[in-house]
Amino acid sequence: MARADLLVFLVESIAKGDKLTYRKTVEAIIAEERQKQHNVLANKLERIIHSTPPERSAINGAHVEQKSNNLVQEILPKKKFADLILNDKILEICEAFVNEHHRAALLRTYNLEPRNRILLVGPPGNGKTSLAEAIAEALAIPLFVVRYESLIGSYLGETAGRLSKLFDFASTNRCVLFFDEFETLAKERGDTHETGEIKRVVSSLLLQIDRLPSHVVVIGATNHPELLDRAVWRRFQVRLNLGMPTRDNITQWFIRFQARVGVELGYAPETLAKSLFGKNFAEIEEFGQSVYRQYVLNMPNTKMKDIISKTLKTWREITTEVKQENMGG
Ligand SMILES: Nc1ncnc2c1ncn2[C@@H]1O[C@H](COP(=O)(O)OP(=O)(O)OP(=O)(O)O)[C@@H](O)[C@H]1O
Ligand SMILES: [Mg+2]
Repeated sequence: MARADLLVFLVESIAKGDKLTYRKTVEAIIAEERQKQHNVLANKLERIIHSTPPERSAINGAHVEQKSNNLVQEILPKKKFADLILNDKILEICEAFVNEHHRAALLRTYNLEPRNRILLVGPPGNGKTSLAEAIAEALAIPLFVVRYESLIGSYLGETAGRLSKLFDFASTNRCVLFFDEFETLAKERGDTHETGEIKRVVSSLLLQIDRLPSHVVVIGATNHPELLDRAVWRRFQVRLNLGMPTRDNITQWFIRFQARVGVELGYAPETLAKSLFGKNFAEIEEFGQSVYRQYVLNMPNTKMKDIISKTLKTWREITTEVKQENMGG
């Protein structure tokens, strides 16, 4: 049985002839029924609103069939907010966002919807993908990563068609729909080198994002915010900048690392933070993995302090070499 508030919305939307609310409400009901494993009912409702021919939805339902078209890859979210080093402001915003979804029923009794669109911006290796995963984990819903290689077609109109298929699939599931490297799809429409096809894709993308029910959380991530179409930018109610780690962030990272591996590092975390300042989180993690690996391989005659000191030296040399190469030296 569908929730009372959804039934009220449904009846109201039909009475007012409000097609958009009608569709969003039915999609919310489908998502809910699907979560309760009422797949027959969910598929039946889905067929009605998407007018899918019945034979396509037989047995396992359109759900499985559409996902198997490879438009998305499902990832089981494991990372949690607590696994990441986030500044207080960002953590607070993310927790408030998640709370809106947990208390969506209350919001709806006041005719409000939880926010459902987040844009993550920042240089590579600083947690955009990880944060998308942690948001899905906190919401306890699957993370669907959009696969551009399946989405982007070479024929005219193909991409827009697949895009609408993707959104049809997503809208009847409670999920996070993750667009990594979002600029691939949402490029500035004014780019004179591009064809009309790009304009069509961006327009279609905007339309679909607007139509999404709030139980679908859309997260876009990009290292190149300057390439995004301005209209796309505006669609996101939450925009977070995940910058390079500060020294304090790196210090905290090493404090946690030491606790996790249970080995004395022989260096103060602050000292390591000073040496590695300028590296992104992915590189810091790589450093940690590298020294721990060497430590394990040399057990029992192994001193973490020596390994770290040697590795720091190697990293410094590599960085210097790369810099010299870039300067033509
Ligand atoms: N804030 C953070 N705290 C702790 N670890 C982090 C943080 N950000 C990133 N990492 C670690 O760095 C690695 C890379 O992070 P992630 O893939 O999320 O970065 P990204 O911003 O998506 O990078 P890209 O732009 O290359 O896709 C992950 O293994 C993750 O655990
Ligand atoms: Mg990423």
